[in-house]
Amino acid sequence: MQTVLSGIRSTGNLHLGNYFGAIKNFIKMQHENNCYFFVADYHSLTTHPDPAHLHDNVRKVLSEYLACGIDPDVATIYIQSDVPEVTELYLLLSMNAYVGELERTTTFKEKIRKQPENINAGLLTYAVLMAADILIHNAHKVPVGKDQEQHLEMTRKFARRFNQMYKTDFFNLPQAYNFGEKLVKVPGLDGSGKMGKSEGNGIYLSDSPKAIKKKVMRAVTDSGPTKANQEKPEAIQNLFSLMQLVSTPNTVQYFDDKYNSCEIRYGDMKKQLSEDITNFTNPYRERIEEIYRNDEYLRKVAVQGAEKAKINAQKTLKTVREIMGFKNF
Ligand code: ADP
Ligand code: TRP
Repeated sequence: MQTVLSGIRSTGNLHLGNYFGAIKNFIKMQHENNCYFFVADYHSLTTHPDPAHLHDNVRKVLSEYLACGIDPDVATIYIQSDVPEVTELYLLLSMNAYVGELERTTTFKEKIRKQPENINAGLLTYAVLMAADILIHNAHKVPVGKDQEQHLEMTRKFARRFNQMYKTDFFNLPQAYNFGEKLVKVPGLDGSGKMGKSEGNGIYLSDSPKAIKKKVMRAVTDSGPTKANQEKPEAIQNLFSLMQLVSTPNTVQYFDDKYNSCEIRYGDMKKQLSEDITNFTNPYRERIEEIYRNDEYLRKVAVQGAEKAKINAQKTLKTVREIMGFKNF
């Protein structure tokens, strides 16, 4: 069985793009692999979060993933900072990570531009910490979005370097997890492009029905088709694509027919879409709120996850220390 690991940013709520593009696959994947999911709270320190919010952010993210169906009895779900073995591996790996290659990382260069007032060493070594996250469980596969591919490449570089330096084959070279060819791209409703947090067009699982309605009713459309069966412009296709994810095939067909016969009323379509999104997200929103309030359950999940993750992490660290020449008196 393959070990699959995924790090989760500890800020931000899940939107429909995250759900259909990633989480839905995670839920399936957990039954087919030995899965580790962790909330990357150490990583969030690079932006100096307010201590009053740090824990609550972790709690929110954890509640959302559990509400979506990550099963703590099937996968190992834990908080990064509950497994401090990661930081020791990070220190050990950082001795063989070179400043030049870290400075050339795209995400580091971006951060320099975005937060010139706070170019801390944690930003520079972000990729080393991420490599430690992955290598502490000797993961084979890591599901990553486009923006994280370079970090995974660097993880392989550090692992390969370690293996060569110490003449061992201890570390696997982790590869990107491929969910198959049918990757869904969830569009935004602002005319073009995908739904995304930084795009500012997210429809969130935790959004209230009112918020969803407002977002959908604002969607970009046009003055309507003038010729039967004409091709749909991107903004309109986006409405249909989103509908395909949350509505019944009959509903999609109904509006498709209306479009093709030039009788479509976008207002009606948006109303239907907003209702169907709400029906889809409502159970998630309720579950998120329920889990978020359940201190005891969250504590149990976090403790159980940390215990499982620590067993593996300690084993890895012990071997790495031995390979590097550390010995107990
Ligand atoms: P965001 O910053 O918008 O929350 P990320 O870029 O962090 O999204 O992506 C997190 C995961 O969600 C990735 O696996 C990515 O492929 C997936 N994802 C994000 N937005 C979409 C989208 N619009 N369609 C499909 N998948 C998406
Ligand atoms: N850097 C990842 C992100 O921004 C989060 C992350 C941290 C991660 N450690 C990881 C992802 C290890 C995969 C594996 O989304």
